[in-house]
Amino acid sequence: MNSLTGKKIILGITGSIAAYKAAFFVRLLIKSGAEVKVLMTQSATTFIAPLTLATLSKNPVITGIADGDEWSNHVELGLWADALVIAPATANTMAKMAGGICDNILNAVYLSARCPVFFAPGMDLDMWVHPSTQENVQKLLGYGNILVEPESGELASGLVGKGRMAEPEHIITALSDFFRKEETTQSLAGKTVLITAGPTYEPIDPVRFIGNHSSGKMGKALAEKVVARGGKVHLVLGPSKLTVDHPDIRVTKVSTALEMLAAAEKYFAQADIAIMAAAVADFRPKNAATEKIKKKAGQEEMTIELVKNPDIAATLGQKKRKNQILVGFALETENPVANASRKLSKKGFDFIVLNSLKDEGAGFNHDTNRVTLVFEGNKTKEFQLKSKLDVADDILDAIEQIL
Ligand code: C5P
Repeated sequence: MNSLTGKKIILGITGSIAAYKAAFFVRLLIKSGAEVKVLMTQSATTFIAPLTLATLSKNPVITGIADGDEWSNHVELGLWADALVIAPATANTMAKMAGGICDNILNAVYLSARCPVFFAPGMDLDMWVHPSTQENVQKLLGYGNILVEPESGELASGLVGKGRMAEPEHIITALSDFFRKEETTQSLAGKTVLITAGPTYEPIDPVRFIGNHSSGKMGKALAEKVVARGGKVHLVLGPSKLTVDHPDIRVTKVSTALEMLAAAEKYFAQADIAIMAAAVADFRPKNAATEKIKKKAGQEEMTIELVKNPDIAATLGQKKRKNQILVGFALETENPVANASRKLSKKGFDFIVLNSLKDEGAGFNHDTNRVTLVFEGNKTKEFQLKSKLDVADDILDAIEQIL
C-alpha cells in the first residue's frame, strides 16, 4: 500500500497546453489507489476533452458552477478532498488564487477548500519569470500552498527554458511524500522543544528602544510543526504581534535579551531540543533612563553607550548535555557558509539554519523563507523558497535525523 491509497484528490485543470498531460496524471493517481474528481476551467476544455478525464477518473467532470440544472457544491467538494491539485496552473489561475477571485468552479473550490493545495505551474518561460507571476507564487506559498516547481526544457512556443509543468510522475512523488510525512506526524511524541523567537527590545528610556524587524513567524511555524508531530513546546517569544494559542505550546513573553536568557535557561534543562530562532540584539544601552530623555535646546548630537548582551545560544551551548540538540539561525551577508560554520562550533550548535538575504520573499516579516542548513565540516543542504511552515518541516526532519 502506498501513501496515496484511499486518498481523495481533486484535480483542477486550467487552460495551458500541459493540460494534455492530465490524462496520464489521472491514470497514475488511480493506479496509486486514489479517488479522483476532476474540475476544469472552460479554457482547459479546449485542450483536453472532459470525456477522456471522466472515463479515466470514473467520475463526472465538473466544468461549471451549474451543470444544466444541477448545482456543483463547491464547499462540499472542498471538504471532500484530502488534497486539491491544480495542474497545470496557468499564470491567470494563480493570479486569481492569489487575489481571492472565484469566477469559476475551480477557484471557488480553491477558496473554500480546507485541505492542502498543490499547484504545478505550466506556462511559457517569460510568463513564469514575470515579476507579477513570481509575486503570486510567493503569495500562494505564504498561504501554505505547496508548489510543484515547473521544469526546464522545450516549451510549446518553441522556446527553451523553465515553465514546463512538472511531469505527472513528479507531482505524484510530491503528493506521496506529503501524505507519508502526515502519517508519521507523531515522530516527536514525548519530546520537549525550547524555541526562542522574535526580536528583543532594549530600552533606551521608558518610550524608546533598540530593536529589529524580526516578526517571530519562523519560531511560531516551528512551534506549530513540533506540536503537529506530537511534541511539547516552550516558546520564549520577544515582542511580537503574533498570537499563539495551543495547549501544547507554552508561551513565555519577554522583552529584553536578559529576560530571554533567563527564560531560556529556565526551560533548557527540561528540553530535548532547543531551536534559537530569535533575533537577539547584540548590545543594549548601558543605562536605560527611568524618565523620557528630553532634547536640550541647541543639542545636535546624542550618544548612547552600549554594552554587550549575553549570547543566549552560546550560554545554552556550554550547558548542553550529550543527548540534547541545539539548532541556531544565522543571517550572513559575506561568506555565509564559512561564517555559519564558525558559529556552529563557537556556539555548540548541531546545525545552523542560514537565512538568505538575497531572495525576495525570504527572511524578516515574510511568510516565506529560503534556507540552507549548515552542518559540521561545511556540509550543506539547500532548500528552495517555501512557506515558513514548510521550512519548519525541513528543519524538524533534519533534527529527527540526528535524533
Ligand atoms: O552571532 P549571531 O547573532 O549571528 O548568531 C545567531 C544565532 O545565535 C541565532 O540562533 C540567535 O538566536 C542566537 N543568538 C543568541 N543570543 C545572542 C545573539 C544571537 O541566542 N545574543
